[in-house]
Amino acid sequence: MNAAVILALLFTLTATQACCANQDRCDTIRVESWSYKYAEKVVEDASYVLNMTVVDQQSAAACTFRKSFGYEKATLWVDHGCRADFKVCYLPVMPTECQTLRVESWSYKYAEKKVEGASLFINMTVEDRQSAASCDLDKSFGFYNENSTVWVDHGCRADFNICYVKGTSTTTTLNMSSWNYKYATKVLPSASCIYSMRVVNQQSAAPCTWGATYGFMANTMWVSDGCRADFCVGYYSA
Ligand SMILES: *[C@@H]1O[C@H](CO)[C@@H](O)[C@H](O)[C@H]1NC(C)=O
Ligand SMILES: *[C@@H]1O[C@H](CO)[C@@H](O)[C@H](O)[C@H]1NC(C)=O
Ligand SMILES: *[C@@H]1O[C@H](CO)[C@@H](O)[C@H](O)[C@H]1NC(C)=O
Ligand SMILES: *[C@@H]1O[C@H](CO)[C@@H](O)[C@H](O)[C@H]1NC(C)=O
Repeated sequence: MNAAVILALLFTLTATQACCANQDRCDTIRVESWSYKYAEKVVEDASYVLNMTVVDQQSAAACTFRKSFGYEKATLWVDHGCRADFKVCYLPVMPTECQTLRVESWSYKYAEKKVEGASLFINMTVEDRQSAASCDLDKSFGFYNENSTVWVDHGCRADFNICYVKGTSTTTTLNMSSWNYKYATKVLPSASCIYSMRVVNQQSAAPCTWGATYGFMANTMWVSDGCRADFCVGYYSA
């Protein structure tokens, strides 16, 4: 893989995490330090613990944050005899899945395959190339998030390792208007995450320019400076 490809993959991954990591979750979890020994517990499904507070202390020994209990990334720890139920809030990891899939471009023709249950691709790498023709990301193979489809072209035939966020992706067309050149937003349901937005039919004389007069963040679209248009928006729901 060349640097640009790795950057593109990293960007996809980072954008995904930044976007969908905003629904935090809280649970009550028991962690116990027996015989005054250090102990830890990994919070299942957590990518990061945000905070940890004592709700029900069972030990005579004190539970003091950073002295006898605390957390590091997705792991909780206790020490010096602290035993308690803790309220723990964390950012959940998104349910991801990886699989190996053979996709083949015969006679140098374009071919595609739908990946059921994939809502957002994280990465796609060549595991075992069968063709003499090379397989290069975005040149002879790639993926479309809008329809959960992977593609090959120019004779590339290989087994690919494909990782994606499980869920459903949807595209919809809706209009947005920046009246009087004002900033306006439209919000999709909170559990959704936008990954693409493009103009299909511009109504304003004022230009609609990606990143400048329209764009999106997480589950919110925005327009500004007089841009009015119908937009095709791709988003997924976990
Ligand atoms: C813990 O974090 C959650 C999520 O950010 C927040 O809603 C809650 O108020 C925090 N609790 C404490 C005690 O800081
Ligand atoms: C692809 O993404 C998955 C899931 O995040 C990760 O476990 C795996 O290491 C990634 N592979 C590459 C080659 O980046
Ligand atoms: C998926 O979307 C791409 C890009 O919009 C399109 O070229 C391709 O034909 C679509 N494939 C399917 C199976 O819908
Ligand atoms: C924009 O959407 C609204 C509500 O769906 C609709 O009533 C209106 O006709 C649309 N306008 C344009 C210019 O498409």
